[in-house]
Amino acid sequence: MAAVTKAPRGTLDKLPSIAYKYRAVENIALEIANLSGYREIRTPVFEHTELFRRSVGDTTDIVQKEMYTFDDKKGRSLTLKPEGTAPVARAVIENGLLNEALPLKLCYITNCYRYEAPQSGRYREFSQFGAEVYGANTPLCDAELIALAFTLIERLQIPQSCYKIEVNSIGCPECRKIYQDALKKYYEQFKEELCHDCHTRLTNNPMRLLDCKVPTCAKFKNDAPLILEYNCDDCSDFFATFKMALETLNVPYHVNPKIVRGLDYYCNTVFEFVCENGLVFGGGGRYNGLMKELGGADTPASGFALGIERIVSVIEGYATSSDVQSTQNVPEMYIAGIGEQSAMLALKLSHELREEYGIQCLCDIVGRSVKAQMRFADKTGAKFSIVIGDDEIANNVATLKNMENKETLEVTLNASEISKNI
Ligand code: HAM
Repeated sequence: MAAVTKAPRGTLDKLPSIAYKYRAVENIALEIANLSGYREIRTPVFEHTELFRRSVGDTTDIVQKEMYTFDDKKGRSLTLKPEGTAPVARAVIENGLLNEALPLKLCYITNCYRYEAPQSGRYREFSQFGAEVYGANTPLCDAELIALAFTLIERLQIPQSCYKIEVNSIGCPECRKIYQDALKKYYEQFKEELCHDCHTRLTNNPMRLLDCKVPTCAKFKNDAPLILEYNCDDCSDFFATFKMALETLNVPYHVNPKIVRGLDYYCNTVFEFVCENGLVFGGGGRYNGLMKELGGADTPASGFALGIERIVSVIEGYATSSDVQSTQNVPEMYIAGIGEQSAMLALKLSHELREEYGIQCLCDIVGRSVKAQMRFADKTGAKFSIVIGDDEIANNVATLKNMENKETLEVTLNASEISKNI
């Protein structure tokens, strides 16, 4: 029976006591993105596996170890999306969105799936808020993207002291090639000590060596050559202007020349949002080569994604005064009824208060005693209550009670009068 009553490992039920915080973060994120001209896009939960092989990269941990891949009944290999960028890029190409006015700005909130070892902040099903820009190859575009994420973090009242925005430039394909050769040379000295995967990385994709989490390999990262030192003049200029734009926008940042990101499609700008406890709650960068790689027009692109579970956990841990904490759904009103006729009137008034006045109102739908109804009203946190019995019906008047300060007021028993007094 355990399989029936226990959620699969690495998944998280967002119960009502926390789900409202997710909804609040998502609403604020979409609202802020909209101000900068981003329009929402929704893509399927699963895609052809090949899409992620080609975009995220065959040699990444995501593709090699973490994808939920299955064959459908016709033998097509499909994969639950491990991230949001590749599906959006695919949808942009397939639907000709690059023919619209550029830059094209799209945003999304989506579930993602990665078969990772579950631990604090790491799930097998998680959600991302992402933003992508197509058709702008400028440092200003990258800075504007980071500013969007920063604005969201500020709106959520996450204190600046508890996280860092780390930025780096991994250069263009030309300067990266020279860097990769240097990296390969460096790691070759320790070949004997590297894990099995790193042996493959050494030949196939040396940048991924910096991503290895096996402790015996990770220690070599400390003295590895730094990519910033290999950026060509154009890439260095791009990075310098990018930093200047961040300063212009008052976005605090730290250069971390060791960020390489866990996905292959990046070039030039890369960045991560890192909490003081080490949790990376967002990341992104420029990916100019991806659209062409996927068969679309050669179009520069850039974007980021924030993990919503991680954002909520940062809010829980650090942002005690965030608006998100106080948006819990509490009913405005509870109307109790004693007896059949009163229950029917309570049902009718509740319906009218909701429909005509937008007031969140509850009444008894399980046939409880008035005492049990009031106990329930208390538990829901309803701010006002009314009890209707035979006398109230006869006089068409009832007592409206403020459940917090216990003040009472006589009101006529119709929705309009009740709505005016709460
Ligand atoms: P990513 O760094 O792989 O980038 O993921 C972005 C964010 O998703 C992470 O910073 C983290 O907050 C969250 N995340 C990733 N894996 C997990 C997990 N197992 N459990 C919980 N949260 C997780 C991307 O996905 C890129 N598509 C970002 C991007 C958009 N780059 C350009 N555009």
